[in-house]
Amino acid sequence: MPIFTNATGWILATTSTAYALGLNDAGVLTHCYWGPRLPALADYPPPPSPDGWSSFNPPAQLTPEEYPGYTGNTFVEPCLKVTFADGVRNVVLGYVGATVESEPLPTLAITLEDGFYPLRVTLLYRLYEAYDLLERAVRIENLGTEPMLIERIWSALWHLPQHGRYRLRHMVGRHMDEGILRHEPLSEGVKRLESRRLASSHHHSPWFAVDRDPDADLGQGADECGGEVWFGALAWSGNWQIAAEVTDFGSTRIGIGLNDWDFAWRLDPGEAFTTPVSYAGYTAAGFGAMSRCWHTFIREVILPGERQVQKVFYNSWEATHFDVDEASQVHLAEIAASLGIEVFVLDDGWFAGRNDDTAALGDWRPDPHKFPHGLTPLIRRVHELGMAFGLWIEPEMVSPKSELYRTHPDWVLHFATRARTESRHQLILNLARPDVQDYLIAQFDRLLTEHPIDFIKWDMNRNISEPGWHDAPGEPREVWVRYIEGLYRVWGALRERHPQIVWQNCSGGGGRVDLGLMRLADQFQLSDNIDPTRFLAMQEGFSQIFPANTMHAWVADLPASHLSLRFRFHVGMCGILGLGGHLARWTAEERAEAAALIAQYKTIRPIVQFGELYRLRSPQRHAFAAVLYVAPDRSEAVLFAFRTHLPAQTRLPPLRLQGLDPQRHYTIEGQPEVRSGAAWMHLGLDLHLGDFASCVLLVRQV
Ligand code: DGJ
Repeated sequence: MPIFTNATGWILATTSTAYALGLNDAGVLTHCYWGPRLPALADYPPPPSPDGWSSFNPPAQLTPEEYPGYTGNTFVEPCLKVTFADGVRNVVLGYVGATVESEPLPTLAITLEDGFYPLRVTLLYRLYEAYDLLERAVRIENLGTEPMLIERIWSALWHLPQHGRYRLRHMVGRHMDEGILRHEPLSEGVKRLESRRLASSHHHSPWFAVDRDPDADLGQGADECGGEVWFGALAWSGNWQIAAEVTDFGSTRIGIGLNDWDFAWRLDPGEAFTTPVSYAGYTAAGFGAMSRCWHTFIREVILPGERQVQKVFYNSWEATHFDVDEASQVHLAEIAASLGIEVFVLDDGWFAGRNDDTAALGDWRPDPHKFPHGLTPLIRRVHELGMAFGLWIEPEMVSPKSELYRTHPDWVLHFATRARTESRHQLILNLARPDVQDYLIAQFDRLLTEHPIDFIKWDMNRNISEPGWHDAPGEPREVWVRYIEGLYRVWGALRERHPQIVWQNCSGGGGRVDLGLMRLADQFQLSDNIDPTRFLAMQEGFSQIFPANTMHAWVADLPASHLSLRFRFHVGMCGILGLGGHLARWTAEERAEAAALIAQYKTIRPIVQFGELYRLRSPQRHAFAAVLYVAPDRSEAVLFAFRTHLPAQTRLPPLRLQGLDPQRHYTIEGQPEVRSGAAWMHLGLDLHLGDFASCVLLVRQV
């Protein structure tokens, strides 16, 4: 059992990391340690009981409390804020007891209760020992006879070692421009990342990574290959918040959880509320090791369904937009099949009245003009061609010009006295409502039962406005959480009823990519941006936590582009290869080249999708970038290298590989020598690439 109890508290040990907490002299539940696993239990520091610092900063202000409530004269970010029925707005939590269980996973549950009010808070810790990851969540119960209002409830506060100086790595972006990495020093105050958009969003992503600040007095920073990194994420697809706080007394802590902005939850007598979970881990081996830890965990624990390679697909959106009909799609499908594509996806525009983005969302029946015999003939033809059939849907949305909206105008999020702000001419159905959820489950269940569909692309093309819940049965600000729970319910029910379907998550590209939806969707669309050089950079951003077998890339048409088809394919081959160009307009040579590249991708994709990723050179920082995917047994690897623009006389630096077995010997395509893994990793190989050229090379053990 990896949970150890000592005189003052608990030590949670994974294979190579440990986390310790306990009760200090004042009986306060206090964080003690998070870092490498130490040889002996006695090595872990006892819970700190710091002195205060004048009347302005009492001991509690200096104590790294594990889960502080809003109370007393401390001024740190609290994890929990509750207003009781009598108007009192603070929580005084005291330790009551703890239980340890070993099945199904080692779990520690620590119970805290308010000394006066009937409030119980349980801190839940679960260990994924082999993955070196810890999961935290919080359950709150009302044991009394009057309601209480929760105004903030975070999933965890992750404390970093005291008195260190740190940097925060996180991801920012916007629609068409996702996945940009930032790495910045943290200093006194709060750095807040969040979403208020009802989706995890293109703009920030609910994960963090922290390393030591090399410019400060303590320790070395991390890079891809080494250095200490503490990292975490929230499994949630709606409004979230990360608050990285550095106190005036050398304590750095990362609070993570539901966003408290416009949030409130009424907890009635006898009720309980449980937060989303936050996962976190530590490595001493840099950001690369952090990513590989996430990738294995996501592949083996988070993703739904059986482990299977994600197939090469074609999506006709970039080719035909809304202008779809049976003949055009059959024609594209025939070409797609001849190239070796395995899934044909019909995107937006297939349902009644959908000729542009101004109408018809909500009316999910095939358009009688475009598909006079329904979708069945197209699906049949796609199947005859040996491909799976995929369909685009956007269940959460409704167009004001639709039958659904005319029938149920109250089903959208809105305030009765305010205009309903449209984005892309659409409104958002209130998935917090059980009747809306039931309706969607029934509608899409019928669609999927009546048609042999193998793949669904679930899109979401706007963020929120007017978050009102007409006729809410309780506290209307619960909508933020109840909507997401409703979304999970609808998606979960459809997934359960149609287990053969592969689900792609899309929100205008990468607008809702998070560990919450990754439990329901097999893959996600990274972006609507089809420029491969941007794509490379975005892949670096998303690959910080998401593995290659979840990331779909486009190979699309770039009119007048200097980027060759080969370069575009090589970028797509770094994840799940997807095509989106107008295949009917491709020349015979282009189709032949595409067929050869698809065939090549099929031979390397088990390594790409299930291998270990080593980011060798960053496309966000260099015009010569490279990644390596190494098979789990290290007998093979696939190297991708890309050069964008560099001055003509530039000599490319040797590309030093990683992740090979230093003792074994390997060949690399195009290189005459056989060398040890150690040599390839220390000396590297010289590549000669011209501007906007790329290569894919197989590395093989001899
Ligand atoms: C946004 C998606 O990201 C695109 O790929 C496409 O599906 C459109 N929506 C369709 O409306």
